[in-house]
Amino acid sequence: MVALIRTVAYLGLEARAVEVQCQVAPGLPRFAVVGLPDKAVGESRERVQAALSAMGLALPPKRITVNLSPADLPKEGSHYDLPIALALLAAMGVTDAEQLTEYIAVGELALDARIVPSPGVLLAAIHASEQECGLICPRAQGAEAKWASEVPVIAAPDLASLLNHLKGTQRLPDPKPGEIEANAPGPDLKRVKGQETAKRALEIAAAGGHNLLMIGPPGTGKSLLASCLPGILPDLSPAEALEVSMVQSVAGTLEEGRISRARPFRAPHHSASMAALTGGGLKVKLSKASENGIPRHIERDSHFV
Ligand SMILES: Nc1ncnc2c1ncn2[C@@H]1O[C@H](COP(=O)(O)OP(=O)(O)O)[C@@H](O)[C@H]1O
Ligand SMILES: [Mg+2]
Repeated sequence: MVALIRTVAYLGLEARAVEVQCQVAPGLPRFAVVGLPDKAVGESRERVQAALSAMGLALPPKRITVNLSPADLPKEGSHYDLPIALALLAAMGVTDAEQLTEYIAVGELALDARIVPSPGVLLAAIHASEQECGLICPRAQGAEAKWASEVPVIAAPDLASLLNHLKGTQRLPDPKPGEIEANAPGPDLKRVKGQETAKRALEIAAAGGHNLLMIGPPGTGKSLLASCLPGILPDLSPAEALEVSMVQSVAGTLEEGRISRARPFRAPHHSASMAALTGGGLKVKLSKASENGIPRHIERDSHFV
């Protein structure tokens, strides 16, 4: 039989629907994952096999084929472990295949069958709420997933308790949305001595939502003025906070689902290339050197203007 469960592929800040299909058919024993998996997805075979054996389950000595559909979309990341394991368990008849079709699953598996965090759960949760289906995710990321409105979330610590929850023999607690982080006090405009015109320009830009280009010799306080801007801007609106959190979620920096209303500020080095600033490829990544968030104020140093 063929068992199905839904998951997502992350393309930048977009989550695309992916269906994980698993067939267990008679034939020479093998376990293959097809549908353009990258290295991490290909390796998920080993993690799934180890997780199942940690629960005391052996793979059936049959031809096991897992297809990630659409097969022409490249699949990156470790979050396919959980949907692959669930599809396989449903195909083996361990869990109810019908029930699984109502969920989108994301999560990485450890060898001892724990479900460990993987980036992008917030995007998957938003996708699940658009598709009006539930979400199965790692327990550590339940708080993050709960931010997407109204989605039933199963946040499971390990595969065994997830199967028991689906069977109805154990009830996993409903996750609560993560806390809204108190804004950390940033640099204050009162630290800037003089520079009345620049301060006035900063206030006008903040009030009107304008862009700002600061030109001047090194050491005249351009970086200082720029770092004071988030302090005089209003807090992020809920929609903006969600958007910033989506970037953090897919980059894997959203800790315990805590959402911040503070405006992100980044101070990239003036010699950083365009690719270093905006990133390249399909996946959104934040460099470790920069603060969390998306580039908002890019200040240019005088000798580069
Ligand atoms: N008007 C000012 N008031 C207080 N400190 C200032 C002022 N202008 C410059 N500074 C200090 O001088 C140093 C260099 O300023 P910085 O903002 O890095 O200059 P720039 O980015 O224009 O090269 C920083 O430590 C900053 O705090
Ligand atoms: Mg500077």
